[in-house]
Amino acid sequence: MPRARAVAPEDKGTGMSKAWFETVAEAQRRAKRRLPEGVYGALVAGSEKGLTVADNLSAFDELGFAPHTAGLSNERRLATNVLGQDVSMPVMISPTGVQAVHPDGEVAVARAAAARGIAIGLSSFASKPIEDVVAANPKTVFQVYWVGSKDEMAGRIDRAKRAGAVGLIATLDWSFAYGRDWGSPFIPEKVNFEAGRRYAAQVALRPRWLWDFAKTRTLPDLRVPNMVANPGDPSPTFFGAYGAWMQTPMPSWDDVAWLRKQWDGPFMLKGVMRVDDAKRAIDAGVTAISVSNHGGNNLDGTPASIRALPAIADAVGDQVEVLLDGGIRRGSDVAKALALGAKAVMIGRAYLWGLAANGQAGVENVLDLLREGLGSALVGLGHRSVDDLRRSDVVIPPDFLRNLGVQGPDAPVPA
Ligand SMILES: Cc1cc2nc3c(=O)[nH]c(=O)nc-3n(C[C@H](O)[C@H](O)[C@H](O)COP(=O)(O)O)c2cc1C
Repeated sequence: MPRARAVAPEDKGTGMSKAWFETVAEAQRRAKRRLPEGVYGALVAGSEKGLTVADNLSAFDELGFAPHTAGLSNERRLATNVLGQDVSMPVMISPTGVQAVHPDGEVAVARAAAARGIAIGLSSFASKPIEDVVAANPKTVFQVYWVGSKDEMAGRIDRAKRAGAVGLIATLDWSFAYGRDWGSPFIPEKVNFEAGRRYAAQVALRPRWLWDFAKTRTLPDLRVPNMVANPGDPSPTFFGAYGAWMQTPMPSWDDVAWLRKQWDGPFMLKGVMRVDDAKRAIDAGVTAISVSNHGGNNLDGTPASIRALPAIADAVGDQVEVLLDGGIRRGSDVAKALALGAKAVMIGRAYLWGLAANGQAGVENVLDLLREGLGSALVGLGHRSVDDLRRSDVVIPPDFLRNLGVQGPDAPVPA
């Protein structure tokens, strides 16, 4: 018998809510209808041919489950601790610049995450000041890029500390790939007459998006307020900061160790795809890594992060927290990642689609779907707790795994 869908609070009495959606795929369809083409395209993102972004999704489809028939339990213990934070489930918001998606931007996402008891990673390229985001969700972890001088970086990190951030995420391996076979969106430097002229046709077709901003008497702000050392200091535009980032020499492993020393608490290196890099990250003093290709937005042709996860989890999972991000769209994906060795996952586009579809409530909707789906997977697999998930719960096809940076005859590159 098909399961009745969970009834959203506002449904009571009416039985149906037009705003509620039953899958992340539906949230994405609504986001596409609602957002101007350029804004939607910026969230689809990806680079070059989109090989990695596609593999992030199809790899989860290749994995199967090995469910039990009887002896199942209704108990679903999802709570865990990630980056020193007690959270209600092993899901965290991955940092993204959500410029122009919704007037409340990262504050809406932070409120949704707080309402559902999970932590949020806040991008350096976010549109809202970290002070406002921490006020909305004290479980905020700040994400830094390697941009500008060490003094400037230390200044931004110090501000995050003063604001009350509980951890730091470093995203360092950006290779600035540009060009997409499906076309890059036009993103204006600032919202001015020229941007209005170029966007006019797209915006005219999406009046609800414009109405959301009109209600708040603001226009999308394409500035990045967390790229300065003090709240209220004049902040650069997104493209100004991007240019400075591209001109900054890429960091070495010694620089990673320097960055780590700037922060006392939990410190995650995001973007690790190889076992040898995971070990170097530990040498540099990190407390967590995210096995990640940044959602396929970086070097196209990098395999799906879930393929690289088991080798990394086996090698370093007892020394640091191993998270995974890339391709999570449903609760069963979370279960697969946990079974393959992740302590928790981070989500990107899934919550962006929810935010675009229905603001804070849309993000809560996405988190509820992930919670429900993860719980269902636990029940089917005969477990009571996320801690019980094992590799044997998952059917891994031959040739699925990519053991990158492993020494030995199977190493894909000479070690
Ligand atoms: C629109 C967009 C913006 C992003 N911005 C950032 C960012 O500012 N910093 C960062 O570390 N990762 C960024 N990412 C990568 C995400 O943190 C995350 O790694 C990725 O979205 C995970 O894949 P998923 O979208 O399939 O869940 C961005 C991703 C998207 C789609």
